[in-house]
Amino acid sequence: MSSTTAQRFADVPPESEFVADVWSGLSGRTKSLPSKYFYDARGSDLFEQICDTPEYYLTRTELALMREHVAEMAKALGPEIRLVEFGNGSGLKTRLLLQALERPVAYIPVEISASALAGSCAQLQRDFSELEILPLQADFTAPLTLPRAHRTPRRTVLYLAGSTLGNFPEPEAVVLLQQMRRAAGADGAVLLGLDLKKDPVLINAAYNDAAGITSAFTLNLLVRMNRELDADFQIDQFFHRARYQAIVGRIETDIVSRRAQRVRIAGRDFDFAADEPVRVEVSCKYDRSDMQRMARLAGLQLQQVWTDNQEQFAVVLMPATGAG
Ligand code: TRP
Repeated sequence: MSSTTAQRFADVPPESEFVADVWSGLSGRTKSLPSKYFYDARGSDLFEQICDTPEYYLTRTELALMREHVAEMAKALGPEIRLVEFGNGSGLKTRLLLQALERPVAYIPVEISASALAGSCAQLQRDFSELEILPLQADFTAPLTLPRAHRTPRRTVLYLAGSTLGNFPEPEAVVLLQQMRRAAGADGAVLLGLDLKKDPVLINAAYNDAAGITSAFTLNLLVRMNRELDADFQIDQFFHRARYQAIVGRIETDIVSRRAQRVRIAGRDFDFAADEPVRVEVSCKYDRSDMQRMARLAGLQLQQVWTDNQEQFAVVLMPATGAG
């Protein structure tokens, strides 16, 4: 598919990665768009509002879980670690962890957005004046070379919070975990936030809040393309659809075309059939056997699983397995 796409568009070199990703995502037999483009200013604001909806249990449950178990987590991670975080979410979970850790050697946030990185590091440095913070502006899905800390760490721990791993289909999630394991080294570990399999009614509600904020959030991607890619999406001719597929254990979020229509994006026409979906996100949910399988495939061990008493969300510790 990608080679045909490249050939078809060879005459017009895409001026930005955004155009290239959108053109390529909408050119396949099944349409998709990368979810990283949700987070413009409006999208980031809407996402924060999603986290505050009564239906979206994930953020508040993970935070409660951290508050309750962070001392135990810090103990399991050990003293004088180098903590690497992929992305920097709310920062609150990170703060709890950094506060609980015994003499952390360095904190390395890995984030693609330079401005997000600069802002959060400045704030963090104010509150943790002793801590060596080494921001790394990079795409964490690509292999990384981590900066060295002044003090030698006893261990490197890679932290991926907020159920972000779930936004990768399992084969990609395993590749990401393998990369994390490699970056952590033979006696390193991975600390992960994972959303758990549960009553589909609760999961579906979390991605279809009654106030319609999630719908506004997904459709904002069309608004963004209109603005930044000179596209002419008629927003009300599309709708948000998120459905939990229990068999595969994941939420699938689509933007669906209400009718047959043609949309122009950065000078190219794209046809949408009536009811045709554009896949914009998957969000995988896990049980213990899923965790065990992924850990094994990635060269990790499932050492510990912390959950809330309703077993909605989990933070899991996966140290690297032995040699290699
Ligand atoms: N990626 C997050 C998740 O899977 C955030 C999110 C919530 C989201 N609702 C969404 C992403 C709807 C895309 C569409 O929970």
